Amino acid sequence: MDITLLGTGLLGSAIGERLLQRGHRLTVWNRTPERMAPLVAAGAQAADSPEEAASASPWLITVLSDGDATRHVLIEGIGSALNGRRVLQTGTIGPGESLELARLVEDWGGSYLETPVLGSRPEALSGRLQVMAAGSENLFAQARPLLEDLCGQPRWLGAVGAAMVAKLALNQLIASLTHAFSLSLRLVQAAGVEEESFLEILRESALYAPTFDKKLARMRSDDYSQPNFPTAHLRKDLNLFLQTAETFGLETLALEGLGRLLTRGSEAGIDGLDYSALHRLTGPDTPQEAGSGRDRRGAPPQRSCTPPPTSQAVPPP
Ligand SMILES: NC(=O)c1ccc[n+]([C@@H]2O[C@H](COP(=O)([O-])OP(=O)(O)OC[C@H]3O[C@@H](n4cnc5c(N)ncnc54)[C@H](OP(=O)(O)O)[C@@H]3O)[C@@H](O)[C@H]2O)c1
Repeated sequence: MDITLLGTGLLGSAIGERLLQRGHRLTVWNRTPERMAPLVAAGAQAADSPEEAASASPWLITVLSDGDATRHVLIEGIGSALNGRRVLQTGTIGPGESLELARLVEDWGGSYLETPVLGSRPEALSGRLQVMAAGSENLFAQARPLLEDLCGQPRWLGAVGAAMVAKLALNQLIASLTHAFSLSLRLVQAAGVEEESFLEILRESALYAPTFDKKLARMRSDDYSQPNFPTAHLRKDLNLFLQTAETFGLETLALEGLGRLLTRGSEAGIDGLDYSALHRLTGPDTPQEAGSGRDRRGAPPQRSCTPPPTSQAVPPP
């Protein structure tokens, strides 16, 4: 198939590589042209503008940072050249943003399927992403052969918005599970409890999630380089989850705290690092909220009467 890929960042470049491996003819455009180079070397055609890229293929895949960037590229950048094109919108954006984009694309005579994915670069490169699709069932049927090259079994979830809701629900779990594990690990370490024993108990329990071991080495070594999914995008997705949950009247009080914690990511310099770097935010030296005059728990500053943690094991109660 002739496919145009708009956005060759971490995920987009891996999707592009997979599509080339599967024998598709690929045209690519990226705001920073240097980031297209590996795909061009692998056989993709580079375009100078989104409009030129769109004109090359009936299928357009967008893998851009957020809703604003996607709207900017599709609507301001391509506009009338959307006529007759089929857009597969793969970046993670809000369901409301996606609905608005669908309307704008259709106004220009194009058609729109949202296709967010679960999984990252390794899964994209090996065709093991989980693709969630929403929009016209007919368009989903047409896109199916292409989507099957990215994943085993694409799933159609309903009208536009439904796949983005599912994607945000999954990414809330990424944030919450990573944070929960980080905090428990910190406590065990700070109190001098035997870490391996704690992990063995966890692994044998119903509380265990494979993501814990997947991120353990990074947390232990404090090495969050070469990210597949950076902290800035996790923060974006958590905020999108909070906004969306609010529209359904859900109680998000506990999650708002995690949202506030992740806002310290920029100051802590972890935005571009693997999202498990949120482990740096749960330690005793986490940056404080600027100008709050309060401690990290939201309480007024006060002298503690409990001794600082020691490396001694906590005696049993
Ligand atoms: N990485 C993953 O594992 C993963 C998994 C599932 C979903 N996603 C979602 O997929 C999307 C892309 O993620 P990524 O990890 O590939 O991000 P990334 O590496 O940060 O790439 C972002 C892409 O968006 C482009 N971009 C940003 N702002 C733009 C603007 N104003 N105008 C034009 N282009 C703009 C960037 O262009 P430049 O190169 O010029 O900056 C780049 O191509 C995000 O929505 C993310 O949440 C990512």
